[in-house]
Amino acid sequence: MKIDILTIFPEYFKTPFEQSLIAKAKEKSLLDIDIWDIRQFSKDKHKTVDDIPYGGGCGMVMKVEPIYDCLNAVEAKNGKGYKIALTPKGKRFTQEIAEKLSSKEHLIFVCGRYEGMDERVYHFVDDEISIGDYVLMGGEAAAIVIVEAVTRLIKGVVGKDKSVEDETFTKGLLEYPQYTRPYDFLGYKVPDVLISGDHKKIEEWRRLQSLEITKKRRPDLLKKLGAKDA
Ligand SMILES: C[S@@+](CC[C@H](N)C(=O)[O-])C[C@H]1O[C@@H](n2cnc3c(N)ncnc32)[C@H](O)[C@@H]1O
Repeated sequence: MKIDILTIFPEYFKTPFEQSLIAKAKEKSLLDIDIWDIRQFSKDKHKTVDDIPYGGGCGMVMKVEPIYDCLNAVEAKNGKGYKIALTPKGKRFTQEIAEKLSSKEHLIFVCGRYEGMDERVYHFVDDEISIGDYVLMGGEAAAIVIVEAVTRLIKGVVGKDKSVEDETFTKGLLEYPQYTRPYDFLGYKVPDVLISGDHKKIEEWRRLQSLEITKKRRPDLLKKLGAKDA
């Protein structure tokens, strides 16, 4: 998968994509990430990327032209991609969206800053995504979240595909509790069923735990699942 990220803070991405599975995916050529500095596409000598809002109000708004020119340069170099603007006004990011995005070959993210982007930017993208109902200082952290969620779904990025299939949200439920050694930590013991060696029993226990924890913490997910099955 090809990923391009447009930002006015390219330094922000210096290390997050050099770690762990993302670094390995890049090494294995499963993933290629380019970071683009929107400021380089500003035409004035001060490299301005923001301006005061029409109609007044506090803060600055990101200008449309440098973003538009940067998007054109990205697609001229790397080909057409699925363009996503990061904004708290976008549709809320979910595992389902991550799955849809993971089937695309080329994703392009536009990170806003300040009071956000000139509304006309949204004419030039395919999607608007929010990572949750809160306001960040910029889209960079949101881009990292989405890149992590999406790229781990690409075949070969995570060691065993089964570990991705079993996870929270993948089957519409929260995941069952996981344990590793030691068996007894300060009196907190691993449930006996997990050391029974009876795989059928373990599977059943995990399924029930999954249902139980989802019922307690995220009844909305169970409702959604019920609606899907109906
Ligand atoms: C301070 S925010 C602008 C918020 C804007 N004034 C509003 O109320 O909708 C600056 C930038 O951070 C990013 N951002 C903030 N919260 C976000 C979220 N929940 N999801 C995705 N991006 C977000 C967007 O790119 C946005 O343009």
